[in-house]
Amino acid sequence: MQLLAPTPLWIALTIGMLTAAGVGMFSEGASRRAFLPGKTSAGHYQIELACGECHTDSFTNSDQIQSACQRCHGGELSEAEDSHPRTKFTDPRNAARVEVLDARYCVTCHVEHKEEQTREMGVTVPEDYCFHCHQDIATERPSHEGMAFDSCDDVGCHNFHDNRALYEDYLIKHLDEPAQLGHQRFGSLSKTETTTLEREAQTAAALSGEEGRAYESSAHGRAGTTCNDCHADAESQAWLAKPNQDSCRECHRREVDGWERGRHGMRVAAGLPPMRVGDGRVELASERAHESLGCNSCHSAHAMDTRNAAAEACQSCHVDDHTKAYADSKHAALWKKELEGVGAPGTGVSCASCHMPRVGSGNDGGVYVQHNQNDNLRPREKMIRGVCSQCHGVEFSLAALSNDDLVKSNFASAPATQHQSMTLVRARPRDEQ
Ligand code: HEC
Ligand code: HEC
Ligand code: HEC
Ligand code: HEC
Ligand code: HEC
Ligand code: HEC
Ligand code: HEC
Ligand code: HEC
Ligand code: HEC
Ligand code: HEC
Repeated sequence: MQLLAPTPLWIALTIGMLTAAGVGMFSEGASRRAFLPGKTSAGHYQIELACGECHTDSFTNSDQIQSACQRCHGGELSEAEDSHPRTKFTDPRNAARVEVLDARYCVTCHVEHKEEQTREMGVTVPEDYCFHCHQDIATERPSHEGMAFDSCDDVGCHNFHDNRALYEDYLIKHLDEPAQLGHQRFGSLSKTETTTLEREAQTAAALSGEEGRAYESSAHGRAGTTCNDCHADAESQAWLAKPNQDSCRECHRREVDGWERGRHGMRVAAGLPPMRVGDGRVELASERAHESLGCNSCHSAHAMDTRNAAAEACQSCHVDDHTKAYADSKHAALWKKELEGVGAPGTGVSCASCHMPRVGSGNDGGVYVQHNQNDNLRPREKMIRGVCSQCHGVEFSLAALSNDDLVKSNFASAPATQHQSMTLVRARPRDEQ
């Protein structure tokens, strides 16, 4: 157990915060914000006013912060087959390494509210920190002789946690694949398991003209979903003028859960009001600044057109270079063909193909849409297994993703060079492969 020394600052803060809570000041974000010691990282600033999500009972207990990190991220790290799990460092054989860098604790590498030392992905250790534990790598692997320690985690080399698309075995298995695999493998979505609700049915007549027709021809209209399925308050059954994600949860639990784990819905998951477009740190359309994020940011209330949601909706809000470049990409041309009915279903590449892919096996629970658009975003190699390798060889995907200019131009051209990892794998003696 690691405890921070109870410095006078801590004592003052703890007393200050308890007093503030006592007099009800805590109900106001602004006063809570005053206790923040510095700017919160890109991953967490949306929920920074929900102090209790990370700082539970006391502000000084590292084990409590650790369990908060575990509660929200433990699942994804174990799914990622974390290469450096805590168990590696509670093993007495690694005690010497832990003395140099205590990798048992997340906060050793991810402290919070310290903008000046925070790099991408909330990492707060210097870039060459792998050195502390792997200084002998050139002896174990002569091919690594002379490589700089700040290059270990370059895109396509290694990650600290998720190496599923980088393991040697994986690369060897996919050596010499062509750039284009010539087939697509996105599965069809499974039917929604509908909860039958015993509520009074209403007709689309109550929705005027075009909106009514859109509803009737939508998946909901066709499936016989009633107005009250969304518009009746769960407790009082009173008419809700503006249904939100709580109305969808009953029938679409997985979509709502995913949405709450990413940057579109994480504030709602922390019990805060939904994210406002104007509060975003990434580049977003200023004319939508006042809007709050919800399911109908992408899905219009009654038409629920998923094709519009997959690219057009995103482009109306996101205005960074990468997003703007999409329209001119070969992927966008393929998506347009699919929309026009010229391309077969699954051959187009929309924003959602990469950022909200269809996941699941079809065996257990079926194929559904990953609504956490941060799930495969960083590190980028996460996109290889679930997305690119549906259509491209792994070598091509790795080379394309490791090129920042190609990401910025939304993959405007083929990558010019091969990735070094492939060169190394190829150079390994046959009997070692
Ligand atoms: C997403 C998680 C998270 C949220 C939310 C959060 N913090 Fe923190 N905070 C941390 C972490 C991690 C540390 C570093 C702890 C460590 O070094 O052991 C920290 C450290 C601190 C420190 C000590 C800084 C220092 O220099 O030692 C203070 C004070 C603090 N937080 C206040 C707040 C307040 C007030 C809020 C709410 C307004 C808040 N935090 C919300 C994660 C969070
Ligand atoms: C209440 C849930 C919650 C808690 C507690 C929490 N996080 Fe997060 N964290 C999130 C969400 C949601 C995101 C944003 C989505 C994403 O990037 O995956 C995020 C983002 C991050 C990122 C950045 C990922 C990126 O790609 O930019 C890191 C690193 C991280 N968290 C580590 C931690 C650590 C370490 C702790 C404990 C100090 C912690 N988190 C506590 C929910 C939480
Ligand atoms: C020794 C340093 C170190 C420790 C300890 C550490 N991380 Fe990380 N973490 C990193 C680095 C470096 C990255 C950047 C991506 C990579 O290399 O995997 C990262 C990325 C992440 C990400 C975003 C990317 C992803 O793969 O999902 C999350 C979330 C995260 N860490 C959570 C945690 C949590 C939770 C803990 C504690 C259980 C933890 N980390 C412990 C170094 C560390
Ligand atoms: C706190 C110590 C520590 C740090 C820091 C650390 N590692 Fe490791 N790493 C280990 C241990 C322990 C193992 C288990 C194998 C061993 O004993 O060498 C390991 C194993 C590995 C492996 C073997 C593959 C695997 O998944 O089993 C790779 C690759 C690796 N680390 C890369 C890195 C990279 C890249 C960094 C920096 C981003 C890093 N490590 C930082 C301790 C560390
Ligand atoms: C009473 C159950 C129920 C509720 C409540 C509900 N839905 Fe649905 N939803 C369905 C059914 C049934 C389908 C059709 C499923 C199918 O064909 O697989 C569907 C389909 C969808 C589709 C896919 C449309 C398409 O064209 O494929 C979207 C998007 C959707 N719902 C979003 C929502 C949103 C957003 C909410 C909340 C505002 C919501 N649903 C509330 C039952 C419900
Ligand atoms: C799948 C969920 C769903 C179903 C089913 C549904 N609606 Fe809606 N409805 C919504 C959402 C979401 C909104 C937009 C709320 C907002 O603007 O925030 C909305 C908005 C409305 C509005 C405008 C409310 C206002 O005050 O601006 C009316 C009127 C309405 N719906 C009537 C109906 C009628 C009548 C039916 C049945 C024929 C129906 N809805 C079926 C989800 C649904
Ligand atoms: C109504 C506006 C709106 C729409 C529509 C929208 N987004 Fe977002 N998006 C946001 C906001 C706000 C954030 C949070 C930005 C932040 O925290 O800086 C965000 C975050 C993201 C992120 C995470 C960025 C990061 O750096 O972690 C990705 C990726 C993303 N959106 C992709 C999409 C895609 C793909 C679509 C369409 C399928 C879409 N968005 C539709 C407003 C929108
Ligand atoms: C950022 C845009 C965006 C947001 C926000 C969003 N969706 Fe979706 N949703 C999509 C896209 C795109 C698809 C279709 C993807 C595909 O066809 O592969 C989709 C598909 C769906 C489907 C059909 C999936 C299936 O398996 O048939 C449902 C149901 C759904 N969304 C529900 C929701 C609910 C509930 C919310 C709010 C928690 C929500 N969506 C928020 C973009 C979004
Ligand atoms: C072929 C796959 C692909 C397509 C198509 C695609 N993206 Fe991306 N997107 C990526 C990759 C890879 C990244 C880089 C992730 C990283 O390393 O931060 C990214 C990053 C982003 C980011 C984060 C930018 C930031 O500064 O944090 C947003 C937002 C985003 N994409 C939105 C979109 C939107 C909107 C579309 C459609 C107009 C789209 N993307 C199309 C693969 C794709
Ligand atoms: C559904 C299939 C599909 C998926 C998924 C997909 N692509 Fe593509 N991609 C294609 C096709 C087909 C082309 C166009 C080939 C042509 O017209 O020459 C293409 C073109 C490209 C190009 C431009 C090649 C050139 O010659 O100009 C790059 C770079 C690229 N894809 C990278 C990626 C990356 C990286 C991912 C994953 C993040 C990805 N793609 C996901 C099918 C896909």
